[in-house]
Amino acid sequence: MQELAALGARASVCTDCRLSETRTNVVFGVGRPDADVMMVGEAPGRNEDLEGEPFVGAAGHLLNRLLAEVGMGREEVYIANVLKCRPPGNRDPRPDEIESCKGYLRGQLDLVDPRVVMTLGNFATQLLLRTNTGISRMRGRTYRWWRDKVLIPTFHPAAALRGGERVTDQIREDLALMRSVLDSMDAGEGVLAEPEQLGLF
Ligand code: URA
Repeated sequence: MQELAALGARASVCTDCRLSETRTNVVFGVGRPDADVMMVGEAPGRNEDLEGEPFVGAAGHLLNRLLAEVGMGREEVYIANVLKCRPPGNRDPRPDEIESCKGYLRGQLDLVDPRVVMTLGNFATQLLLRTNTGISRMRGRTYRWWRDKVLIPTFHPAAALRGGERVTDQIREDLALMRSVLDSMDAGEGVLAEPEQLGLF
């Protein structure tokens, strides 16, 4: 998909915010350009910054393992983050950085055009669903989103690494929900989702 590659090339030389001064690599996204499912995380960490690929560290390994449990390979989905550059010391993204960067994520959503979007953690969930509500209250259900996509928020896998088996099990539940939504879509069945028609952020 040429347009996606062109957007990635533009991002790779982006200097729109301060993070361009401290990054090693821009971490644009990885996966099938025509994926049915897009996962959206927060921002690259140390390993991602060094390798230029999202979710390649400990959180990524957990994500890969949990995806495999619902019968999906990492290569089947498209994976991106809200921020394309690592915040120094893995601090939280700042509002002006999200603002500068969000055009890239918007472009990825437009071009990949997945049927299901999974937001991982507070930053992605709050940006895409335009809410201040925390992830614990948002997760566990489907939202009908922009262009009739189904959005399913879940915890960030790094939270599972800190929070143990209970958080991991909740991510498992949300991934199983994603799997069943895809299966219903494949069967041409309707998908139950709160009619929360939201425009793109
Ligand atoms: N955490 C994220 O949100 N994204 C990554 O790519 C890695 C860790």
